[in-house]
Amino acid sequence: MKSKFNSKSLAKSQSNTSNIWNEYYASQEAGNWVGNQYPTEPLIRYISNLRKSPTNKMEYFNDTGRELKLKKNYKGQALEIGFGTLANLIFLKDKGFSCKGLEVSIDSVNRSKKYLKQNKIKNIKTFLWEKSPIIPFPSKSFDLVVGLQCVYYNLNFKLFVSEIKRVLKPNGKFFFSFFSNKHDYIKYIDIVDKKKNLVKWNKKHPNKRIRGSVLFQPKNKKHLSTLFKDFKNKRIFTYEFDQIPMFQSWWYISGNK
Ligand SMILES: C[S@@+](CC[C@H](N)C(=O)[O-])C[C@H]1O[C@@H](n2cnc3c(N)ncnc32)[C@H](O)[C@@H]1O
Repeated sequence: MKSKFNSKSLAKSQSNTSNIWNEYYASQEAGNWVGNQYPTEPLIRYISNLRKSPTNKMEYFNDTGRELKLKKNYKGQALEIGFGTLANLIFLKDKGFSCKGLEVSIDSVNRSKKYLKQNKIKNIKTFLWEKSPIIPFPSKSFDLVVGLQCVYYNLNFKLFVSEIKRVLKPNGKFFFSFFSNKHDYIKYIDIVDKKKNLVKWNKKHPNKRIRGSVLFQPKNKKHLSTLFKDFKNKRIFTYEFDQIPMFQSWWYISGNK
């Protein structure tokens, strides 16, 4: 199968997609921050269980007398990619991490900076991500890198994964999410480049503001796992709910360097 995309068309789609997302935030109501007001539920569960075994049933419940110690006073450097709003970053900061956030949307970065300043929050710094997928931090900077409902907008996904490996400290952890093939959004895709697994939200997507943005869509869980083959202790799980008009079905992946 031949790929239609060369590096120039990839760069163009990457930049169009960033512009769509900037416009998405810029067109919204003025105020502190728009989008999610509260952290993503699977992230809360992942972080809160970091000191518990994710696989051993007996160990998982063996926390008597240590319930609070297991959940509080985390240490280390955390990076959130595509933070959009401050909800996840504030949660990570409250858990004890020193946090950095990257966003391709200048509007989102401006809103976050204003809020952090007004509320004198010191342990979170946010930055505009101008050259995704190159992460603008030195190698071995982070103990934790998270990216919820966003990392697939890095169209050269292989390069993105190698960047995650580069910026993580040895044993550093990551946590990312992807649309599962059952997610209602997948009904609204046009194929952009089959070989590169690139699709875009088509003209019928109910969320008009994101139509046209291009994303990397893994074929299945196995493909997702292969993409992160250079990491240890990988876990992939599905999280679904039908509480809102579009059925949500996500693949989450965690692991460490
Ligand atoms: C559905 S929102 C999710 C925001 C936030 N992570 C959350 O969980 O609430 C998608 C986010 O992806 C961001 N985005 C766009 N291009 C991106 C890229 N190349 N890498 C990471 N995030 C990107 C958008 O600006 C937007 O904030």
